Amino acid sequence: MQVSTNNESELFLNPRADTERSELWGALSAAGSDAAIEEIGRWSDYAETPLVALPGQAARLGIAGLHYKDESGRFGLGSFKSLGGAYAVFRLLQSTLGAESAADEITSADLESGRFGQRTSRIAVCCATDGNHGRSVAWGAQKFHCRCVIYLHQHVSAGRQAAIAAYGAEIVRTPGGYDESVRRAAADAERNGWTVVSDTSWPGYEVIPRDVMHGYTVMADEVVRRMRTDPPTHVIVQAGVGGVAAAVCARFAYEFGPSRPKFIVAEPARAACLYQSGRDGHCATVDIVEETVMACLSAGEPSPLAWSVLERGVDAFMTLGEDLAPEAMRVLATGADGDPPIVAGESGAAGFAALMAASRSGEHSRQLGLDADARVLVFGTEGATDEQIYSRLVGRSPAEVMQRRG
Ligand SMILES: Cc1ncc(COP(=O)(O)O)c(C=O)c1O
Repeated sequence: MQVSTNNESELFLNPRADTERSELWGALSAAGSDAAIEEIGRWSDYAETPLVALPGQAARLGIAGLHYKDESGRFGLGSFKSLGGAYAVFRLLQSTLGAESAADEITSADLESGRFGQRTSRIAVCCATDGNHGRSVAWGAQKFHCRCVIYLHQHVSAGRQAAIAAYGAEIVRTPGGYDESVRRAAADAERNGWTVVSDTSWPGYEVIPRDVMHGYTVMADEVVRRMRTDPPTHVIVQAGVGGVAAAVCARFAYEFGPSRPKFIVAEPARAACLYQSGRDGHCATVDIVEETVMACLSAGEPSPLAWSVLERGVDAFMTLGEDLAPEAMRVLATGADGDPPIVAGESGAAGFAALMAASRSGEHSRQLGLDADARVLVFGTEGATDEQIYSRLVGRSPAEVMQRRG
């Protein structure tokens, strides 16, 4: 049977998974990924994020090894998302200014220095966001000196709004959910001559979300360079529209070829659009009836660009019940059995939550081969991007958790 359920999650083994283990760039490309890795690596504030071994958790879960890619410190923005939106803003400004003049190619250092400030300040970018993507776009706009307007739907917390406003973005609050905020951003952009910098694609709108996803491949490349001689057997990535999962999947398939790890995508059961797409065999939309605690994974529709990689790149789709991510946050914060305590936000802990749920279910761990030989990689895609929510769910503040690291 392809679908199996326990009381916490559902698992669907993808019948379209690429058994040849070939390259899987889909609508992305090796050249685009390499260019992003080179460019972002040059940014003055770039630093690789830690890949943390968690042998204590591995032993508890009955697997050989566990690594956690900790994105909480990425560019001081709290999540991997800072790689995508900001890179797309850079590419947009570079190409817009490049088209206007025959000068040498404009670099990120040129833009950051404000040398072209008079021209870039006339360019405006905008987007709708659940939090992290908007923060990245706002940061990129401030870094490279253009105007930025961010649309937030009514469920985005005040803490996340403040974090975006801190980068000088103008904030527009919209009624309804995420989809309404996307429509409003698109309409305002059209009317005002702004450019939408979205992390999801739609027919006819691909250049910018492709740049965003190429930016995310930086995170995958950092892991590959650390694990090249001892690759994981399983990789779990949490998904909203699927952009980061596709970026990791494509870079890993490229680097590891036929010996690439088994690839598992995890989503909230309340917003499981990729799981549904896997079952339907094409991009599927789901209604979000109730918002998930994993706020940044709340997407009802996959990005078609992401789907072009994931439709064959994913070995299994998993859904997550609502209690799993908070439990995973608390387990990571405890840091038992010699593991360091880790601060992971609600969406950031979802990959580890999926591993916990699969390991607890005999059937799921058997189907996925999560046995005593498995070496698993999970992505901690965010830290405590809203400290109040974090403290409420974990029972301790991020600072208290980090103090225990000593
Ligand atoms: C912390 C975090 N993790 C994972 C995701 C999922 O990324 P994607 O929407 O590209 O699937 C997001 C999206 O905003 C996020 O903010």
